[in-house]
Amino acid sequence: LRMVLIGPPGAGKGTQAPNLVNKFGAYHLSTGDMLRSQVSQGTPLGVEAKKIMDQGGLVSDDIMIGMIKQELSTNPTCSTKGFILDGFPRTIPQAEKLDEMLDNLKAPLQKAVELKIDDELLVSRITGRLVHPASGRSYHKIFNPPKKPMTDDVTGEPLIQRSDDTEDALKKRLNSYHKQTEPIVQYYKNKGIWSGIDAAQDPTKVWNDILKCLGF
Ligand code: AP5
Ligand code: ZN
Repeated sequence: LRMVLIGPPGAGKGTQAPNLVNKFGAYHLSTGDMLRSQVSQGTPLGVEAKKIMDQGGLVSDDIMIGMIKQELSTNPTCSTKGFILDGFPRTIPQAEKLDEMLDNLKAPLQKAVELKIDDELLVSRITGRLVHPASGRSYHKIFNPPKKPMTDDVTGEPLIQRSDDTEDALKKRLNSYHKQTEPIVQYYKNKGIWSGIDAAQDPTKVWNDILKCLGF
């Protein structure tokens, strides 16, 4: 399966991606997780990226395209089982470059699923989110609490809040989304591979709708 998940911050991309991985064996490629791993390693890219992420801006197309190209051309799971792109593409140039890369690999994108939800519902989702940094697993203080407070169910390691999960940064992230990312919805509609689903429903219903879009 080769697909893209599109949606604003808190729409549920990172929540639904593991379901797709379990069902299809495809690789979860989250550019946000990749950047956060650079931040925690303290690399020069990580230092630069953290400033941009905390302000809700976008890291440059060239850097992001380079990261994805590297994964798509070297990750064995991506070439055999496919991939779930989460957080990429985020601009029209990124979408165009992705198509070019996949054409070269003779493995075009099959589906772009948009998780549709109103901005007002995202504040509580984002400010209540807890994440396990190493795996990218996310929980929610109220909607999806971990079994033990502030503890990852799988590893027992501590959960944290993302530094960009403040109301202030969220406003800027939503602004970037509407201005720079939403145009890719039309891009995929024109290609005939878009489906939109209601992401305000509970997670199980969202998952069922994703499966329907994929013909299951
Ligand atoms: P990224 O990590 O991609 O952040 P984002 O797009 O803002 O998305 P989120 O991770 O916040 O939302 P999500 O949809 O994954 O929500 P989740 O499932 O966790 O990117 C971060 C930053 O990196 C960007 O701002 C940018 O600076 C940079 N960046 C990344 N990619 C880039 C690119 N390609 N180009 C340029 N810059 C890039 O859910 C949220 C919460 O809600 C959780 O607590 C969850 O438990 C809960 N929840 C989920 N679904 C439901 C539901 N159905 N009902 C109730 N609660 C729910
Ligand atoms: Zn995410």
